[in-house]
This record gives sequence, structure tokens and C-alpha cells, in this order.
Amino acid sequence: MQTPSLENAHVREDQFPINGTDHIEFYVGNAKQACHYYQSAFGFDLIAYRGPETGDREKVSYVLRQGKITFVLTSAFDPGHEIARHVHEHGDGIKALALWVDDAAKAYQTALGRGAVSAFPLQTLEDAQGPVRMAAIKTYGETIHTFVERNQYQGAFLPGFQPKSSGLQVRPLGFKYVDHCVGNVPLGEMNQWVAFYQQVMGFNLLVTFDDKDISTDYTALMSKVVSNGNGFIKFPINEPAEGKKKSQIEEYLDFYRGAGVQHVAIATDDIIYSVDQLRKNGVEFLHVPEVYYDSLPERVGSIKEDLEALKHLNILVDRDEEGYLLQIFTKPVQDRPTVFYEIIQREGAKSFGKGNFKALFEAIEREQALRGTL
Ligand code: FE2
Repeated sequence: MQTPSLENAHVREDQFPINGTDHIEFYVGNAKQACHYYQSAFGFDLIAYRGPETGDREKVSYVLRQGKITFVLTSAFDPGHEIARHVHEHGDGIKALALWVDDAAKAYQTALGRGAVSAFPLQTLEDAQGPVRMAAIKTYGETIHTFVERNQYQGAFLPGFQPKSSGLQVRPLGFKYVDHCVGNVPLGEMNQWVAFYQQVMGFNLLVTFDDKDISTDYTALMSKVVSNGNGFIKFPINEPAEGKKKSQIEEYLDFYRGAGVQHVAIATDDIIYSVDQLRKNGVEFLHVPEVYYDSLPERVGSIKEDLEALKHLNILVDRDEEGYLLQIFTKPVQDRPTVFYEIIQREGAKSFGKGNFKALFEAIEREQALRGTL
């Protein structure tokens, strides 16, 4: 890979600076129970809460953290509430991919000026711990990007939330940060959303996968990955391609009833530990047949992890020009076959595991067949 010259690096100023992922907010049917799941199964710590006891009579939110990852689980009381409607329509799902910025007003105005649609206008929230400024724009489906400016805020999460812990003995699983978040959009809309991220938020197109890279007997999909200036935010966007039967993307779109976030990839430095613990906590993963491991040494060369441990835990490996990566995918984490997680350990590789796509999609198809949706 070429290193940009100093001159180029100086000229190429980031037109839409984002520090990283701020938080991911889920709208769910029962935030209290979902909170227990993310603690007991995924090893997140409960850190903050907002609800009737803190003065919010309409909804409850539980805030969970592990490493640099913050999840917010929100449910509403009234069936007519927007959040309840969202859950009724989509099932439990991701509403907001919130981005941490230094200047929320500037990010919001810049995005609107470049054609973004507002989800909510700039607001300043404040409590004794300081101010937070936020605004949001719409992206695919009903998903939004909230711009969060929190540099002067000292509190647990956001103004209005109270610190809260849990009596549950939680063991962290080594999760570090959000590696990437993938969106599924209907056929023909991928390029439109790629253009949105390029034009509105100054993202770069990192890589394109077409149906020659990603196809099995049944599934075909197209995917393009966009990334922000500092590379901390990576959003692959998938659309279905014509396959022999219903693709996993179409299944998602049918059950989510439209475009939405398909999976969140969580980075760990020790995937063997993370996955071993997740399995012990009852998290279910897609299964790749043992024969996958027969050709692994030739395909990926030498790696520092013990092959038998990877095989035992069913962890996948892929290599690119810069190194290798280890990854595994959970089954969907709610009743509808929609949102799932990827656990990923990068050992130099910056790619997304293209060498595993075929084995992976065949594993998804076996699950689809069991659901009768293939
Ligand atoms: Fe992924």
C-alpha cells in the first residue's frame, strides 16, 4: 500500500471529521430483559439508565458499555409511541448509529447542505455534568445517524441519564470497539446509499464485492464498503442480487420490513477467549463444516493461533496483502432473522473476510432452510 506524501496528506483535509462511533441505540420490545441478555451473554456493563424514576414518563433506556462500545436499549410504554411503532414494524432493531463529533452543529449543517434529510434538529441537553449537543440525519430505512458533541460532558452517558449498575456478576469478554456496521438495502439502492455517504459525509469507497465474489447456489449479493476520513467508521452496504432462491438479504428485508442494520462487527484482541466465553454464555453461532479447516493452512499460511482451538470454536480465518483476520458470526439475536453480530480479530488485515463468504453463506442458507425461507 502506498504511503501518501506529506504534501498530499496535508492537502487532503478531512471534510467531515468524525472521532468514532459514539453509541448504537436499539429500539426493543423489552429493554429490561434485553439489558440482561447483553450483560449475561455478551459481558457488557450496565452504566446508566433513564426512565420514569429519572423523570421520563414515556420510555426507558438502559446504557451498556464494554471497551469503547456503548449500546443503548430503549423501549416505550404507550403503543402509540414512535418507538413502539418502530418495534411493531421492524421487531427489535437498530435505530441510531450515533457518531462522535467535535462540532455537532457544523456536522449537521454540512450534511443538510449536501442533501441529507433531518431526523431531529440541533438540541443542547444539559445537566450538572455539563452540556451535550446533538442532531441527527436520516439514512437507509428508518435508521438515523446522530451527531453527538460531548467534549465538555463529564457524566455517565448523556444529560438526563443517571449512573446505574447491576447486581449481576458480569465478566467482560474482551470487546474493544465497533469495527464496522453493515446495512442491508433493497435491490437497486446500494449505489444510492454509497453516493449518500460519499457526497453527504465525505466517505471514501473502500472496496466493492459483486455477485462473482459472493455467490453460492442460492445466494447472491452485492456489497460496497464506505469509510470516513480517519477510517474509524466503516459501513458496508449490501443489496440482494438475483439468485436461484431467496437470498439472505431478501430474507432480512422481508422480516425487517425494509432497509436496516444487518450486523455489527465487534473487535476483540483475543477471539478465542471471546468466543469461548460467548458460547459458554449460550450465544449461538453459524456453523461451518469441519472440512473448512482442512484447506486452511494452505489458504492462510502461518498464524499464531492454535488451529485446533479455532476449529473447536468454529472460528474462520482469512488473509489479505496486509495480514490476516479471524471472524465468526452469531445467529440472529432476536426472533426475526434480522440483526446479528460478527466478532472479529484483526492481525494486520483491513479487509472483510472475502475468502470466507462462500462457507459463510452456505451456513446461513442451512439456517434459512430450517426457517423455510430459502
Ligand atoms: Fe462484517
